[in-house]
Amino acid sequence: MITTPLTRWFDLQAPVFGAPMAGVAGGEMARAVSLGGGLGMIGVGNLTDPDWLTGQARLPEESDVSFGVGLMAWVLADRPELLAATIAVQPALVSVSFGDPGPYVGPLHDAGIAVATAVNTREDADRATDAGADVLVVQGTEAGGHTGRRATLPLLQEVLAITDRPVLAAGGIATGAGLAAVLVAGAAGAWIGTPLLACPEGLNNAAARQRVRAAGGDRTVLTRAFDIAQGLAWPERWPGRALVNEFTETWHGREAELRGDTRAAEQVRAARRDGDLDHSPVYAGESVGLVTGEESATDVVRRLAADAEVTLRGVPRLLST
Ligand SMILES: Cc1cc2nc3c(=O)[nH]c(=O)nc-3n(C[C@H](O)[C@H](O)[C@H](O)COP(=O)(O)O)c2cc1C
Repeated sequence: MITTPLTRWFDLQAPVFGAPMAGVAGGEMARAVSLGGGLGMIGVGNLTDPDWLTGQARLPEESDVSFGVGLMAWVLADRPELLAATIAVQPALVSVSFGDPGPYVGPLHDAGIAVATAVNTREDADRATDAGADVLVVQGTEAGGHTGRRATLPLLQEVLAITDRPVLAAGGIATGAGLAAVLVAGAAGAWIGTPLLACPEGLNNAAARQRVRAAGGDRTVLTRAFDIAQGLAWPERWPGRALVNEFTETWHGREAELRGDTRAAEQVRAARRDGDLDHSPVYAGESVGLVTGEESATDVVRRLAADAEVTLRGVPRLLST
């Protein structure tokens, strides 16, 4: 078994955290990840109903496994009730990402809850440590969903050099060898989203899961097109990485025109309602080409941990005697 400061802290059998993915990772996904020995996170989005979170949190609890909750800082500013609902379900870990985690660390610590935050730049890492976050999640641009513009590995190395706190690597990790690589680099585990996108425990539908399985890693795009079309208040510095589709082919790079185009806005709204994946976002990262079959989230976590162990046992062979 692989042990790191975070497997010890959260009593895990695998150094794998299931990313909070709004619209994909609910209680069933979190439970499945935690049953695999990792820590599953429930994703809370900008429109999440606090009662929904309360219901979802019961699923891991019923199986007697720990779970976490992922919040977005820019959403909490307007919706403090989401923080209250999160504290009430007593997760083992709460992430507050995409904005300043500062105002939320104190209340979470007062409730005995550990705090993680995604960092997308070196400056974010300084802010996270000053804010008192317990765990830094280095999220590279390879990641699926909203993310920054720096790549995982250089930012990971830079952040590890400036903090003694446990650091997780997020973005592009989808095999045991990839997990082993970030552990050798000094991360305390991986925070995975894309490898879970084809799992049956997701809230995404079967057609979206099939699209993920069929997509190649060359076919993602980092774009603000969907956020602009939908008039979402996502801060500019976090575009979203999604599968290339008809909508991104038409609008990515033409964001100025897209702003105020009511027909495009209606097209995305209708596509989301009707399940039209050519004109609505399927958020996925650059590792999507490695996700080719249907596998439970429990098995994904177990496979990554087992394969990472095999890779790590082979590492000494790289050293000449
Ligand atoms: C469909 C999807 C939805 C996501 N939603 C959230 C979210 O609600 N909150 C969050 O902190 N991160 C979210 N993320 C980003 C993940 O937390 C994570 O950083 C990323 O998936 C890791 O990289 P990977 O996709 O290459 O595994 C999302 C990612 C995806 C693919």
